[in-house]
Amino acid sequence: MTPVEELTEKEAAKELAQLAMDIAFHNARYHGDDAPLISDADFDALVKRNTAIEAHFPDLVRKDSPSHQVGAKASSKFAKVQHAQRMLSLGNAFNDEDVSDFLARIRRFLNMDAEAALDLVAEPKIDGLSISLRYENGVLVQAATRGDGSEGEDVTANILTIKDIPQTLSDVPDICEIRGEIYMSKTDFAALNAQQEEAGKPVFANPRNAAAGSLRQLDASITASRPLKFFAYAWGVMSTLPFSTHSEALTWLKAKGFPTNPLSKAAKDADDLIKVYKHIEVARGELDYDIDGVVYKVDDLGLQDRLGFVAKAPRWAIAHKFPAEKAITILKDIDIQVGRTGSLTPVAKLEPVTVGGVVVSNATLHNEDEIARKDVRIGDHVRIQRAGDVIPQVIEPLLDKRPKDSKRFQFPMFCPVCGSEAVREEGEVVRRCTGGLICRAQRVERLKHFVSRRAFDIDGLGAKHVEAFHEDDLIQSPADIFRLKDKREHLDTREGWGEQSISNLFDAIEDKRTIPLERFLFGLGIRHIGEVTAKDLAKAFGTLEALEEAATSEDASETLSAIDGIGSVVAEALISFFHEEQNRAVLDDLRGELTIEAYEAEETGSTFAGQTLVFTGSLEKMSRAEAKAQAEKLGAKVSGSVSAKTNLVIAGPGAGSKMKKATELGIDVIDEDEWLRLSST
Ligand code: IVH
Repeated sequence: MTPVEELTEKEAAKELAQLAMDIAFHNARYHGDDAPLISDADFDALVKRNTAIEAHFPDLVRKDSPSHQVGAKASSKFAKVQHAQRMLSLGNAFNDEDVSDFLARIRRFLNMDAEAALDLVAEPKIDGLSISLRYENGVLVQAATRGDGSEGEDVTANILTIKDIPQTLSDVPDICEIRGEIYMSKTDFAALNAQQEEAGKPVFANPRNAAAGSLRQLDASITASRPLKFFAYAWGVMSTLPFSTHSEALTWLKAKGFPTNPLSKAAKDADDLIKVYKHIEVARGELDYDIDGVVYKVDDLGLQDRLGFVAKAPRWAIAHKFPAEKAITILKDIDIQVGRTGSLTPVAKLEPVTVGGVVVSNATLHNEDEIARKDVRIGDHVRIQRAGDVIPQVIEPLLDKRPKDSKRFQFPMFCPVCGSEAVREEGEVVRRCTGGLICRAQRVERLKHFVSRRAFDIDGLGAKHVEAFHEDDLIQSPADIFRLKDKREHLDTREGWGEQSISNLFDAIEDKRTIPLERFLFGLGIRHIGEVTAKDLAKAFGTLEALEEAATSEDASETLSAIDGIGSVVAEALISFFHEEQNRAVLDDLRGELTIEAYEAEETGSTFAGQTLVFTGSLEKMSRAEAKAQAEKLGAKVSGSVSAKTNLVIAGPGAGSKMKKATELGIDVIDEDEWLRLSST
């Protein structure tokens, strides 16, 4: 890198332009839900370089200079709101086959004939921010963002400034939670950016960011000056339900004064759905708002209720996404990023290019086989694509444009961060650093994961802080977070930390000293243990000690694999985690600092709560999947095998060895009708 003093004016201007784009890109990655593509240290280096060049060439400071942007994280300043009913996300379909599969899954779950009629609705997927509006006795009392689905932020004052949203409703149930999407029209977005530019303020990358930035203003008068709009398409808690299908709901919402999308259409099968999809895809260009796909929903709310959810998405709806947007640019270099589990991911450093309205200068190359298979070389022109919110990808090099001096990339056999050997296990595509906790990158990534929103969710302790605290040796292992208050004097002298923010941080940390087992397990960042698996494990074992005992026992593989939701891959990951001495030390250390709450079955008021049930033989009135989902809704665990821990066996025709074993063990056995009767009372 040329020292700042030696840059010509032209070079400086060019570099500042590049830095503005790079920093905006990484900022967006960092603040969005996606994994950042570069380390915080590298990010900070970009910011520093930018500041240094600006200091040397004050006349070249750009309107969109990163130094004008104040830290984007306004989030913790809004009061938190617990959603009375979770705000869900949607599964995705990318092609026609995914759509047919979606319908087949529904029919199978409901035990319907493959050809049976099924009423559906198709409607545009608005690319904005979802919001939940709570009306009590017809008055808008609270508006909350989605947040992590369970907890959002109170943006009532801001929402009250939006003309599309009625502040009172007449002739509605006492409690109504209306949900939908806040967005900014393309026209208003262009006008806002022009205005920003004129005022020398930063511009927004796309209408969605503009809408988000406008809504999350602590000063509601700023929101009032921004033209935000709304479409209603869903609801949360309703004291009574004045409609029984989704289409009726849309009509009702419209009658109550909410804007609903005019492109929603009824459909009866996959062909119908695809027709609507194609129609909306054509209409897309003419619409004055961004949409990123079409959402398909089962119309009948009774069926929706039976279908329920998997993890965070309903079984009764899916988003059929539009194809990714593509662009061509130059591959300048390939960096290696080391992940939480040691995975080495090649990241393409690109000549910045706009793809679907967003500037892209980094893209993933997935892994070493992909680079070899595509024969991507440094210096190549490459085709890249960006779909929705996912990390942009390199699709292929343009061979006819390959320059003579293009360079093959030599994938490192050693970790670029800690120098440990990087190995590929048999059957694996990913090469991993074997350094474990010796590797700085792995340590830091694990810490970031530990504090992240879905794990410990420590307010005010973001990835950047973790990186900086780790760098300065204030936090090496997760338990150090809980001892940070002993190092107060080091914080007092840090730039950017005042009396108040330090005390807020310590409060937020203390707040998490007691943690539910499932969050704790997820936070450990064990390979293959996502949120759902962490919950399955918590459900199955109740306490960390019980899990640890199982994972270190002689028949650990069998014990673990016997648990519903746990396969051999997860079992192996757990066993190896609990056998590693360094991990055990981390665990012991954490145990000394924390109170880990045993798993508590959700209060369902059902006699089945906490019980272990086994279904065997064939069921005639419902699918096995529905029976299982129903049992879980009542707080029961469903197991695949009968043991002394089984409380009840539900046996249909053809039940064999499991029923026999139950009888031997003296466990109650009932039939499907009896189960239906008991489970619905
Ligand atoms: S239904 C229970 N319908 O997409 C399902 N969502 O990827 C609730 N979205 O969080 C969502 N348009 O913010 C639904 N017509 C539409 C939508 C829509 C946009 C958003 C919504 C949701 C996200 C899921």
